[in-house]
Amino acid sequence: MKPEEVLELLGRMTLKEKIGQLVQLDGGCFGAGDVVSGPRAKLGVTQEDVDVCGSVLNVLGAEEVHRIQDAYLERSRLKIPLVFMADVIYGYQTVYPIPLGLGATWDPDLIREDYALVAEEAAADGCMVTFSPAVDIVRDARWGRCLEMSGEDPCLTSRFAKAMVEGFHGDGTPARSVASCVKHFAGYGAPEAGREYNTVDMSEWRFRNEYLPPYKAAVDAGADLVMTSFNTIDGVPATANKWLMDDLLRGEWGFDGPVITDYAAVAELIGHGVAADAREATRLAMGATVDIDMKTACYAHELEGLVADGVVSVEQVDAACLRVLTLKNRLGLFEDPYRGCSAERREEVTCTPDRLASARKTCGEALVLLKNEGGVLPLSKEAGSPRVALIGPYANSRDIIGMWAIHADKSRSVTLAEAFEEVLGADGFGWAQGCKMLDDYSELGEFGKYVGVAAGFGAGADGGEKPSADELLAEALELAERSDVVVMALGEHMLQSGEGGARTDITLPAPQKRLLKRVRELGKPVALVLFNGRPLALTDVADDCDAILEAWFPGTAGGRAVADVLFGDVNPSGRLTVSFPHNVGQEPLYYAQFSTGRPAKGSTHSGRFVSRYMDAPNEALFPFGYGLSYHTARYEGLRLGSDVLHAGEKLAVSVDVVNESQVAGTEVVQLYIHDLFASRVRPVLELRDFRRVELAPGEKKTVGFELCEEQLRFWTREHGWASEPGRFEVLVGPNSRDLLSAGFELV
Ligand code: GLC
Repeated sequence: MKPEEVLELLGRMTLKEKIGQLVQLDGGCFGAGDVVSGPRAKLGVTQEDVDVCGSVLNVLGAEEVHRIQDAYLERSRLKIPLVFMADVIYGYQTVYPIPLGLGATWDPDLIREDYALVAEEAAADGCMVTFSPAVDIVRDARWGRCLEMSGEDPCLTSRFAKAMVEGFHGDGTPARSVASCVKHFAGYGAPEAGREYNTVDMSEWRFRNEYLPPYKAAVDAGADLVMTSFNTIDGVPATANKWLMDDLLRGEWGFDGPVITDYAAVAELIGHGVAADAREATRLAMGATVDIDMKTACYAHELEGLVADGVVSVEQVDAACLRVLTLKNRLGLFEDPYRGCSAERREEVTCTPDRLASARKTCGEALVLLKNEGGVLPLSKEAGSPRVALIGPYANSRDIIGMWAIHADKSRSVTLAEAFEEVLGADGFGWAQGCKMLDDYSELGEFGKYVGVAAGFGAGADGGEKPSADELLAEALELAERSDVVVMALGEHMLQSGEGGARTDITLPAPQKRLLKRVRELGKPVALVLFNGRPLALTDVADDCDAILEAWFPGTAGGRAVADVLFGDVNPSGRLTVSFPHNVGQEPLYYAQFSTGRPAKGSTHSGRFVSRYMDAPNEALFPFGYGLSYHTARYEGLRLGSDVLHAGEKLAVSVDVVNESQVAGTEVVQLYIHDLFASRVRPVLELRDFRRVELAPGEKKTVGFELCEEQLRFWTREHGWASEPGRFEVLVGPNSRDLLSAGFELV
């Protein structure tokens, strides 16, 4: 439809029909077998509300989408199609590693390709808008939703935000693209004490410099929608925050698409205590130019009265409705209300070999080797020599797709044991569960379709009878005793991270630590593979392991990808994008710290009176950017094109990287800056660029970067985004700790 035709359509709509476009209901309201939501009664919506509703939440399945769309259009006066929106965060049926792992690839270009595959697979089954990417900066491992984010750094997260939005848009054809909704706007990843949905409070200076950039990167990349976050900013919940949504997002950034709330967030303004009732909540949200009310009846039931009373203007409703109609028009819904989705199309593109190969490749780049002493890894592929024991609750579990792959069929996941069998043959190794995932499952509560996972534990890949803890242990120790090397597959329960997954204990679950201790007593080499959705505190287990491989929740192809690394078919290149602490007491923990007036190193004050803990180091156990490989590399010869940089010019930076080993591998060369003196304190280190560099055995490469004045800018209230003349350091290396440095002057 032409834009003027959309305007003409708006002109023919009644107020009730316009308001209906601003309402998003769950599938239960359309009689669909839904993922999470309850019936209409719980929402208090009527058939009339449903008949004018604009969009549907988290219903996928081509047949279901057709059924609901057909029934709806049958009753629709103006035949305005529904738009189907869902959480397809890091994969639909082919599930990739969780975004914390995708970030660890430091390979946005690869992720852009992956997300184009995700878009096609999801669109084929009826997804039209995905509530992704989530680009919240995360620096507190207690928060469960670290899982969904690319990491703690705004530069890196911004690169992934752009790549993910571009990936979802694919080549733009309806059947191979989905609209993207960047979330959670804004600052949701910084809740006080890491507690879910808790207050976020920070200076505008920190907000703009460290938390906002990734959302802007997504908006600049063309994100179609923005989702409001549950938290407050400056004491005002995002969903009612006019400064954030209208002045900044729309005014400063020029975003003109729909803003949708997070789940029931309009009604939650009452819970926040900024609205006394649904009417006030509606007024505030509309005042913030929030267009779509997800999963409450506030807009549906209060807006008409507010307009009648002159509290909300028809123009406000028109503007919101036009943004929704424009989105539908851009999606081509007026021409094809199904966007080409069908069961046949789904069968064609779901979990195809190229998709599974893509997920396996990406996962291979997402795995981070944190420790590897005594050459434990890679393991030999010679079946039985040495004899490998695979032990732990994740040895043969399909629950490796993470908590937010809510539409995926986990039965497609390949377990670690199945992958080992492909490499070593059934007789070439043994596996044992060893222990239950948790001592106490009650903390997991009930969670919809996952209740089975929450209550029990997958003894085998597909469930199985539940032997006693003693039987599990005995079987594991007996297996380890007659093996030469033990691979421990341990981790958090899948529901211990993700939304609502805030925890104060970020160590491995107790039964698993007990198991590891008992296995370690046998004196065998131990390689630990971790399955988790947040940085863990590994201090109490790291010494008991000769090798540690961080696998995150590795997704559908995760079992094979982990085996690829363990057996040396893939040389790990993953690098952390979040800091792993010594203990939870250090949280929030991030590399881009400020010096303070009494830095722990270099202060003129005596040992006690500097910025430090008495009982823990300041640094991470495993720092941002860190990861090992099966090769070792030497960084040398850091050179700058000049020792002066003028605005408008570029400063050439180069470094030599030498592969000192006889195995090919990839280095992630990282470039940081340090602004030594400025009108505001500046982080002692700030990532500004990075590059994956493949090196043949023994190969030396010169890696070049170009630094420009724009990359030295930071935001202040007085000057906005500006750089300040003075001395800078450029630091280059394989992680945020082992760095070469050189100085220059910004003139
Ligand atoms: C959830 C999440 C959000 C998700 C939305 C719809 O509460 O906060 O990330 O997209 O609801 O499921």
